[in-house]
Amino acid sequence: MIATTNGTPVSISALGCHVPDRVVTNDDLAELVETSDEWIQERTGIRERRFARDDEALSDLVLPAARAALDRAGVRARDLDLVIVATVTPDMVFPSTAAIVADQLGASEAGAYDLSAGCTGFMYAIAQASGMIGAGLSRTALVVGADVLSKIVDMTDRSTCVLFGDGAGAAVIEPADAAGFLGFELGADGAGGVDLNLPAGGSRLPSSAETVAGGLHYVQMNGRQVFKFATRVLVSSAEALLERTGLAIEDVDVYVPHQANVRIIDHAVARLGIPKEKVVVNVDRYGNTSSASIPLALAEAVADGRVHEGDTVLMTGMGAGLTWASALLRWTATP
Ligand SMILES: CC(C)(COP(=O)(O)OP(=O)(O)OC[C@H]1O[C@@H](n2cnc3c(N)ncnc32)[C@H](O)[C@@H]1OP(=O)(O)O)[C@@H](O)C(=O)NCCC(=O)NCCS
Repeated sequence: MIATTNGTPVSISALGCHVPDRVVTNDDLAELVETSDEWIQERTGIRERRFARDDEALSDLVLPAARAALDRAGVRARDLDLVIVATVTPDMVFPSTAAIVADQLGASEAGAYDLSAGCTGFMYAIAQASGMIGAGLSRTALVVGADVLSKIVDMTDRSTCVLFGDGAGAAVIEPADAAGFLGFELGADGAGGVDLNLPAGGSRLPSSAETVAGGLHYVQMNGRQVFKFATRVLVSSAEALLERTGLAIEDVDVYVPHQANVRIIDHAVARLGIPKEKVVVNVDRYGNTSSASIPLALAEAVADGRVHEGDTVLMTGMGAGLTWASALLRWTATP
């Protein structure tokens, strides 16, 4: 799906983030599996990540992020009419984490649901919220990208456990005076789903002693295939959206790619031809936080004064599904 927005301008009016306190360094992981700080930094660019405590669930990360975004936007929870939590690690299969969070925030007038699109979840969710607001179905939406992948990664599997981290990024999305979201490109290739999945615990393979013994309740990944997919779609999705919106790569002021791996980002940056100073990178400090990665990186860029009113922001996510999505946003928020 590729579309430019029309009608009511819609934008992000504020962002809020939260990461767990516990910092896990590469050296910490080298005590669990046969790896090294040098290998992880060279192959991924990651230096450290945050892991939730045993008693911390997704909603415990989402709530502070959501409250920070609402405070900054000057929006009361009861004025929200839509809450979307994009995640693959909800508190439990149901009820949705969005419903749990809406209740705890006091968002009593909001429809609330979780959205599953792997690491692309936040991007799909902002497209939905933008479309619903533009169509008059919603006025004030809270969109959260959040994951606690440390809970579903096998800490004895060195090919996955070094890559991921936990976090939450929230955005208040509302009608804007002008500009805001310019367009979206969303895609999915279900045939590639086998390259990044969590086989057990669904209706295909309900959890059992056997699935647990086989480690099928953990993330399974074909790293090389996912690497190839990621480098391809980061470029093709951005280029397709730029063409559709009539913009050139030179018009992009800030580029926020999914924070999976510095090598994947470097590859996309080189192919797209974006100057490095326009690229937001924080994967070194958080690892791949899945659905939280783009809002965390965007919020950090805003806090650092790197995003100014009127700037054109390009965001592209990709992940399990396999899925991908890009958005172009003319920045209107005054944080
Ligand atoms: C996972 C990834 C970092 C591996 O890097 P790579 O350069 O492709 O490495 P390879 O898979 O070719 O593995 C090379 C060797 O390193 C080993 N290795 C894997 N993880 C290791 C680790 N943490 N420490 C040390 N060695 C490791 C492998 O076992 C392999 O050894 P072998 O050649 O003896 O079999 C890379 O494929 C990647 O980033 N893929 C994308 C993953 C991703 O982003 N997923 C989420 C998308 S949202």
